[in-house]
Amino acid sequence: MTNPNKIDAIRHEVKTYLAHDSTGHDIYHAMRVAKMGRFIAQEENADPDICEIAGLVHDLGRPMEKEKGVPHWGPEALQQIEMLLEKVGVESQRIKKVLQCVAEHEEYGFLGAAAPESIESRVLQDADRLDALGAIGIARTFMFAGAHAHAMYLPEEGNMNWSPTKLSKDAINHFHEKLFKLADEMHTNTGKKLAGERKRVMEDFLKSFMEEWRGEGYAS
Ligand code: ADP
Ligand code: NI
Repeated sequence: MTNPNKIDAIRHEVKTYLAHDSTGHDIYHAMRVAKMGRFIAQEENADPDICEIAGLVHDLGRPMEKEKGVPHWGPEALQQIEMLLEKVGVESQRIKKVLQCVAEHEEYGFLGAAAPESIESRVLQDADRLDALGAIGIARTFMFAGAHAHAMYLPEEGNMNWSPTKLSKDAINHFHEKLFKLADEMHTNTGKKLAGERKRVMEDFLKSFMEEWRGEGYAS
C-alpha cells in the first residue's frame, strides 16, 4: 500500500498543473478518476494504488499539450509525470506501471484499438471514461462545447462520426459520435455495470432535451 501522505502529495502537485483548466480536465476530474480507479481496482483484483495514482496524473500533460501540441500520453508528458512521481518518492516499479497506464489510456476500441494488456490500464480507461458519462459527463460535454464556442445543438448537422482530429460542432452530437460508444466498450464488469447506469442517465436527458426542443405537449 502506498503511503497515504504520498497520494496527498501527488494530488497537491497535480493541482498546480491543472489549476487553470476550463475544459473538464481540472483537478476534480483527476480526483474523481482516481477515486473510481481505486474502487474498480478493488472490485476487479487490480492494484488499487497504481490505479489511483494513474487517475491522478493521467491528464497532467494537458496544459503542455495545449501549449506545445505534444500529446498528453506521449513521451514528453510521461517524462513530466515520471519526474513528479520521483519527487514524491514513489517506487520505480510503480512509476513504470503508472506510465504504462497513462501511455495507453487514449486508445479507443471503436477506432480499432485492442484492449490494453494490463488490468490496471483497463481500469484507468474505464475510470476515465465513466467520468465522461452520466450527469457529470453531460455537464462536461456542455462545458467543453462552451469553451470551444460550439453550439448546444445543430439539428441540421445530423450525427457525425468522431475522430481525434475532427471535433463535432455541437454538444448533442457528441453523445452519439462518442459517449454512447464509450459506454458500450468498458473492459471490467464493474465498469460495464456503472456505464449501463450512466448511459441511462444520458438517454433520459436526451429524451427530455428533444421533447423540450420540439415543444412536445404544447405545440399549437
Ligand atoms: P477525456 O479523455 O479525459 O475524456 P476529452 O478531451 O476527450 O478527454 O474530453 C473531455 C470532456 O469533454 C469529456 O467529458 C468529453 O466528453 C467532452 N468532449 C470532448 N470532445 C467534445 C466535443 N467535441 N463536444 C462536446 N464535448 C466534448
Ligand atoms: Ni481524463
